[in-house]
Amino acid sequence: MRYLKAYIKHWKEGICYMKFGYFDDANKEYVITSPRTPYPWINYLGTQDFFSLISNTAGGYSFYKDARLRRITRYRYNNVPIDMGGRYFYINDNGTIWNPGWSPVKTELDEYQCRHGMGYTIITGKKNNLKAEVTFFVPQNYAGEVQQVVLTNEGSEEKTFSFFSFEEWCLWDAQDDCTNFQRNFSTGRVEVVGSTIYHKTEYRDRRDHFAFYTVNDEIDGYDTDRDSFIGLYNGFHNPQAVEAGKSNDSFADGWSPIASHYKKITLAPGETKTLVFILGYVEMPVDQKFEADGKTINKVKALEMIEKYNTPEKVAAGLEELKEHWNRLLGILNVNTPDDKVNRMVNIWNQYQCMVTFNLSRSASYFESGIGRGMGFRDSNQDVLGFVHQIPDRARERIIDIASTQFPDGGCYHQYQPLTKKGNADIGGDFSDDPLWLILSVSAYIKETGDWGILDEMVPYDNDMSIAKPMLDHLKVSFYKIVNNLGPHGLPLAMRADWNDCINLSCFSDTPGESFQTYTNPKFAAEGGYSKVAESVMVATLFTYAGPNYVAILKHLGMDAEADAAQAEIDKMKANIMESAWDGDWFLRAYDANGEKMGSKECEEGQIFIEPQGFAIMSDIGKDQGCDKKTLAAIDERLNTQHGLVLNNPAFTKYYIQYGEISTYPGGYKENAGIFTHNNAWIICAAAYAGAGDQAFKYYSEIAPAFTEETSDIHKTEPYVYGQMIGGKDAGSDIGKPGNHFGQGKNSWLTGTAAWNMVAISQYILGISADFDGLKIDPSIPAAWDGMTATRQFRGATYDIKVSNPDHINKGVKSVVVDGNAIEGNVLPAFGDGKTHSVEVVMG
Ligand code: BGC
Ligand code: NOJ
Repeated sequence: MRYLKAYIKHWKEGICYMKFGYFDDANKEYVITSPRTPYPWINYLGTQDFFSLISNTAGGYSFYKDARLRRITRYRYNNVPIDMGGRYFYINDNGTIWNPGWSPVKTELDEYQCRHGMGYTIITGKKNNLKAEVTFFVPQNYAGEVQQVVLTNEGSEEKTFSFFSFEEWCLWDAQDDCTNFQRNFSTGRVEVVGSTIYHKTEYRDRRDHFAFYTVNDEIDGYDTDRDSFIGLYNGFHNPQAVEAGKSNDSFADGWSPIASHYKKITLAPGETKTLVFILGYVEMPVDQKFEADGKTINKVKALEMIEKYNTPEKVAAGLEELKEHWNRLLGILNVNTPDDKVNRMVNIWNQYQCMVTFNLSRSASYFESGIGRGMGFRDSNQDVLGFVHQIPDRARERIIDIASTQFPDGGCYHQYQPLTKKGNADIGGDFSDDPLWLILSVSAYIKETGDWGILDEMVPYDNDMSIAKPMLDHLKVSFYKIVNNLGPHGLPLAMRADWNDCINLSCFSDTPGESFQTYTNPKFAAEGGYSKVAESVMVATLFTYAGPNYVAILKHLGMDAEADAAQAEIDKMKANIMESAWDGDWFLRAYDANGEKMGSKECEEGQIFIEPQGFAIMSDIGKDQGCDKKTLAAIDERLNTQHGLVLNNPAFTKYYIQYGEISTYPGGYKENAGIFTHNNAWIICAAAYAGAGDQAFKYYSEIAPAFTEETSDIHKTEPYVYGQMIGGKDAGSDIGKPGNHFGQGKNSWLTGTAAWNMVAISQYILGISADFDGLKIDPSIPAAWDGMTATRQFRGATYDIKVSNPDHINKGVKSVVVDGNAIEGNVLPAFGDGKTHSVEVVMG
């Protein structure tokens, strides 16, 4: 355990917690100091079309636009050992075989470091005085991954060693690739020209794209056939070519094509050699696919791509351009609070994660295989909330893509494929919450940009341009989809599920293999497929939270009568909630298909749920009767733990056929009383909204990654990004034993948690939020704070904000001075003058 030196030990409550690295805020990097992280700690490369996942030991894969349909390199999910498949460099230094990233050979390194930065990763390994530093990134506007290897002989004697690269091609459709072996073992094709290996599987017939792997130097050999390189009975950890110290010049013909370069390298003491590898993706117009012989790949575009990054100077410039891109994006909102962890979350990592989730939705991570799900309607709309200030143009485009998959009656396809942008018919629609998220994303976009024009944009229904209507119409059908589908208590029908995919009130499934997400019990066929009794209180409160945005939009457009009508529906819904969904100390979760309460004191299990509470508080429901305070107290008592708020309590310990998937999970996991960090944010927002700044910050710091860093050995997933779920306090309850995984993170990276916690900390706690009429400042911070400063670019002007908190309160703005002049209220005007304005806010 030579890495033990690098671990920083903490003694807390008598327990020794371990860290596996540290934040380097100045460089916007997380520096990992041990390859043996408690789980692979990954990063994403790519910002537009070409994406790569890369772990701290160089595992992962690449794809173009769509992780399923355009998979470029192969990965083995859920493997033993974990994290198998990646871009691997092998060094055979006189019999000592090692990788700069430690894995897959796992020879102990003399030094190891992985720096995950904004869109790049630098992995450095050192063994026997040979140092290998590898920089991985996807340049801007480029369909390829650049890998620069810098080899340095730090010893006092000359060194000669064999150097190998390795990538394994995926045969494009990642789903087919890992199932359809009778066909695809016979399809693999390559071409090798100089130092470039072309992956042209299926190119001859129906594809117009190929991939290549190249290096900017002469090579001494190559392999393109996996079995020749690795050996049928060897593994990634001991490829036979690497052991032999030279490649076979193998030519793949079917089976598993790979790309591996081989080079014999001699370095004098102190000498450095730099090699630049590129993994590229090329699409060709069909009539230009081949050279005159009709067989050989037309390489014009590939050669242009190679030319772009074939020297260390060009690589340095590309990396610089990428860093500038990120500095620009992260410069839009920058805060300086008394808490470093908050600063690094807000200024760097949370914003970064928002961009990644925006790009990838829920498709490809170390928990999402990239072959199952495309973009989610509700997911992508929520992603916009955390990301819109960074690149509003892309948010606009995304919102239009999403809205285009809506049906004319306001229902929505639940998912769509990024490549085709078409709704996914296999999953279908009828998730009761989906339409409301569109109202929130469009409002967030307008608030950020002031671009009311988006409402006039003609947006198709069901991707059919002949039935396109202005975006405003999409908001209307979204709003009325809820209003027109109410149950016996005047609350929205739950349908297939609401935000919680696992509360399936029309499912009643007792047969293995039925999908809780798509199966509805035939007994509801006569009622149109769904129970006309099961109602979702969560959707009711989401409606009262999102709805006022629709009303504000209508008012702005001068459509007062429509605005009044919509407001009346909101008021009615609030009354219905108070009438039928207030349980005395918190709000109910639902009425099930038997008309029974779910999430009530009267229930045996699952007496209180998190989801409806935050939106109810933020909609002021029952506020005059103290419902907000009571609810916050109940949450603190029943749901809070040191690792965050559990989703429900107590956990279900048996299967409730009337509830569906939620009660299939062991207690403490996932939707059954796991800590769902996504809706923790709704409570953080609500507590801040209600003026309970200390309570809001407490919940924030229980789950924010930078705060979990010290307990990485328990938390396991990356300390720089949120995961979807953390094991809850009820882990093990269903088997009557204490669970082992309370506090353990899962499903990191691709989760709505990123956007919502960004909203929670920046808009609700720090209180800087874009509003229809300007930039609103309304902090709800820990009373202990003296204040904070922030810079925010907004609609073409920069706001230099200083907040002071002389009376040490949680919430309340006493005065706002802009450029030396006091203003009324706390909404800063949209100056749009390209200038910087100083803003002084005094709380009190
Ligand atoms: C998971 C959910 C997920 C859903 C849809 C369920 O099994 O628990 O978290 O959203 O599947 O893929
Ligand atoms: C994950 C899904 O991506 C999200 O849409 C859903 O709301 C949560 N699971 C809760 O079930």
